[in-house]
Amino acid sequence: MQRILIDTDPGVDDAYAIILAMRSPELHVAAITTVCGNVPVNQGTQNLLTILGLLDLDEFPAFAQGEAAPLVKPLVTAAHVHGDDGLGNTSHLRNTDGGPLYPPADTDLASISGVDLILEMAERYPDELIIVALGPLTNLAKAIRKDAAKMRKVRKIIMMGGVFEEYGNVTTTAEFNTFVDPHAAQEVFQFGVPVQIVPLDATHQVVLTRDRLHAELENRADKVSRFLWDATQACMEFYRQHVGFWGFHIHDALPVAMLTHPDYFESVDAYVQVETVGDLTSGVMVADLRPERQHSNPNAQVCVTVAADAFLDHFFERLR
Ligand code: RIB
Ligand code: CA
Repeated sequence: MQRILIDTDPGVDDAYAIILAMRSPELHVAAITTVCGNVPVNQGTQNLLTILGLLDLDEFPAFAQGEAAPLVKPLVTAAHVHGDDGLGNTSHLRNTDGGPLYPPADTDLASISGVDLILEMAERYPDELIIVALGPLTNLAKAIRKDAAKMRKVRKIIMMGGVFEEYGNVTTTAEFNTFVDPHAAQEVFQFGVPVQIVPLDATHQVVLTRDRLHAELENRADKVSRFLWDATQACMEFYRQHVGFWGFHIHDALPVAMLTHPDYFESVDAYVQVETVGDLTSGVMVADLRPERQHSNPNAQVCVTVAADAFLDHFFERLR
């Protein structure tokens, strides 16, 4: 059993990741923290409650709201991809009695901050806790600044973010999570806790087409399947117009599957830094991934290959 804390900016692909994690018996989701990113953090927390409300849970992970703004840069959100509410505008959908079609879970936020919940979990599960970071790394950097000794007890950080040998998805050069808070990413990579990075170079290998999503979900009447279908429409329309195919990249689900099915993934060691000052290059992850240029003191593992079909089959099998 792997003990994990999910740090997330839900976000439609974050929803895929959270549902997969909660449906993975190999994982114990000890806690979930929200962070600013795709949407402002208070909306992200509302979205987390909506996602948890889909799952008919007997008991809930501890969860707390994290940072509302990046360390230095102004917040940039991604409503143009994920919808105004961050979940494909599903918050506007109503059932026959006029209530929300996808109501939030009936549970309460922890009374402490996201940063303090991260530190509490690191203390409770020393050398065991794995942090699955699916948004900007602001919460993690703030936790390191607040209590580095406690954060050194974290077993490892596995994060979706960055891009190395492709274009960015928010600027020409940078991926969204590291673009939003490059300072936080740089501080996390220099900290010393092992980091596994799942960049766009890997997540773009998993092409979830609308036809595949429709085929998987069309005959399913369960809440989760209906929600994923409804929530993904806005993203797939954005992709059809701006990314070149009618479908979606479920970026954030990959780090979750890396924990339960590592054989679907290949990674290389690298020394990774993040540009924080460039006008055109802020948020760029800089590393030499060439085998012949192996760094003598790598600070991360970078995922470079995914068994995409096996991963997608696994995701939908777990959904069932
Ligand atoms: O670039 C993709 C990442 O940015 C994903 O985590 C997505 O949810 C957004 O946060
Ligand atoms: Ca995310």
